[in-house]
Amino acid sequence: GDTLTILGLESSCDDTAAAVVRHCVGESPAILSSVVAGQNDLHAAYGGVVPEIAARAHAEKMDVCVEQALRDADVALGDVDAIAVTAGPGLIGGVLSGVMCAKGLAAGSGLPLIGVNHLAGHALTPRLTDGLTFPYLMLLVSGGHCQFLLVSSADEFTRLGGTIDDAPGEAFDKTARILGLAQPGGPIVEREALNGDEKRFRLPRPLLDRAGCDMSFSGLKTAVLRARDALVAEKGGITVQDRADLCAGFQGSVRDVLAEKSRRALREYMALNPASPAFAVAGGVAANQAIRGALETVSAEFGAQFVAPPLALCTDNAAMIAWAGIERYRAGHADDMSLSARPRWPL
Ligand code: KG4
Ligand code: ZN
Repeated sequence: GDTLTILGLESSCDDTAAAVVRHCVGESPAILSSVVAGQNDLHAAYGGVVPEIAARAHAEKMDVCVEQALRDADVALGDVDAIAVTAGPGLIGGVLSGVMCAKGLAAGSGLPLIGVNHLAGHALTPRLTDGLTFPYLMLLVSGGHCQFLLVSSADEFTRLGGTIDDAPGEAFDKTARILGLAQPGGPIVEREALNGDEKRFRLPRPLLDRAGCDMSFSGLKTAVLRARDALVAEKGGITVQDRADLCAGFQGSVRDVLAEKSRRALREYMALNPASPAFAVAGGVAANQAIRGALETVSAEFGAQFVAPPLALCTDNAAMIAWAGIERYRAGHADDMSLSARPRWPL
């Protein structure tokens, strides 16, 4: 019919999530509920996500998240038109937990099953939040991803470039670790940087001299490590000010690299003469005010609408999976019980 209500499930990394999204053709979609159960406390002691612990927690929590999402949305499973689930890419144990739960729900209710690519979920979010029309340019920038995508339709994504090593969020987290700051490092490094002088430490801006939209961030964290070690060798430790200056220098480098590469991606995108040009960002790093501000400025240089969905929809969530499910379902795609979990699944 014209109205679709889809239950979405997400468990590809360290968040267990379920959501219900409803869409009536010609209207804005409505997020009826969005439940996210994080696992930061479970992994904190290990300094990173431990796949086995993540998989077990997803398996334990998914049922509860689904029940909560249906209750918050005030819908019964019988009111739902289909079940969408992240089928990859991600940590295989987690993806499997989600896919198995979705299959159980589909088998019990007779509802159609829709496998969604996690990256497509992120990439289609600006249509859920801001109703963007194709084609638009997207920068996915998080702890696990960093890529420019030209989004031409609900299942046509062209990668214009991306990181050749670490994702920026990973570099923020490693920088925090090097400087003795807590995890996740992004927000803490950003806060430290507010009191820092970004010009004091001249950190590299990798690959800026190379054509195209590819990026590299692993050398940056090595540069932070060397600068710290030099300070320690010189005076036996680092001061609060040293730390703030290093955070500011690091963040300035990431900002400049992302801004310049965005300029190049926008140049390629604008050459297509899009009717309503738009540049959207998503992922945890897009929460960074300095980075977000720089990207907004670059977007304005090209006269493109700048879209940054609310943070809760930029980071991992199931509303984006339910929405991508709606887009896929409308395009005539559905899966069956043979749907498999894929650790790697390029768009
Ligand atoms: O999208 P996300 O929640 O999860 C995935 O990686 O998929 O992103 C988390 C990443 C972490 O590396 C975190 O340190 C980073 O995003 N992050 C930030 C900020 N907030 C979160 N990085 C820089 N500045 C921030 N304010
Ligand atoms: Zn993600």
